Amino acid sequence: MPESKINSVLERIEKQEKFEQENPREILNSEKVLAIGRNTGIFYNILLQNMKAKKILEIGMSVGYSGIWFADAISNQKDGKIITIDQDIKKIERAKRNFEDAGVYNLVEIRHGDALQILSEMADNSSFEEFFDFVFIDADKERYIQYFDTVLPMLRPGGIIGADNILFPERFQKFSTPYLEHVRKNPNIRSVTIPIDNGEELSLKLS
Ligand SMILES: C[S@@+](CC[C@H](N)C(=O)[O-])C[C@H]1O[C@@H](n2cnc3c(N)ncnc32)[C@H](O)[C@@H]1O
Repeated sequence: MPESKINSVLERIEKQEKFEQENPREILNSEKVLAIGRNTGIFYNILLQNMKAKKILEIGMSVGYSGIWFADAISNQKDGKIITIDQDIKKIERAKRNFEDAGVYNLVEIRHGDALQILSEMADNSSFEEFFDFVFIDADKERYIQYFDTVLPMLRPGGIIGADNILFPERFQKFSTPYLEHVRKNPNIRSVTIPIDNGEELSLKLS
């Protein structure tokens, strides 16, 4: 179980999300938390701790719920760092506060802007100092394949790309189906769908 400061922020965000789900018309779509489920957070937390992950890249941060689970997992690692991207400035303000309250802001570097543009710049500029252990894809569903292809060279061999909303909501299956076909035809990737909450695709880079 995460440390109590972290847990109380996670619970606060879970309460916000529950309220939004029960009162869908009261909150603008653009202001909704739209976070991974708690079990998915625990799942990635266990995975990242066991991988001894240090460098994480997140595409689609929202208010920082998944980021806090990741931060908890890397908090015992020397030089642990999460780069997380979002284009919505209001979400970024809320995430900053959540990271601060959880005591993990020192582990997080927020990048504001369009994810594909930011990733392309990272890929162009990087001499692969940023060799990520784990990348989490959770932004606009129609661009998952582009995100995957852009981050793959920045993932270390043995690193994992996780992608959310593979099974649910069903309206996203028109994007997740081609994503699954794309990742599974890559001979350097071993990939599996984990049927937890909204469905996670875990893709391991073999070499
Ligand atoms: C599902 S939410 C992320 C939830 C977060 N990973 C969590 O579990 O707590 C998706 C986020 O992606 C952001 N987003 C969508 N399209 C984007 C894009 N093209 N560039 C950057 N951010 C984007 C949205 O602003 C939103 O905050």
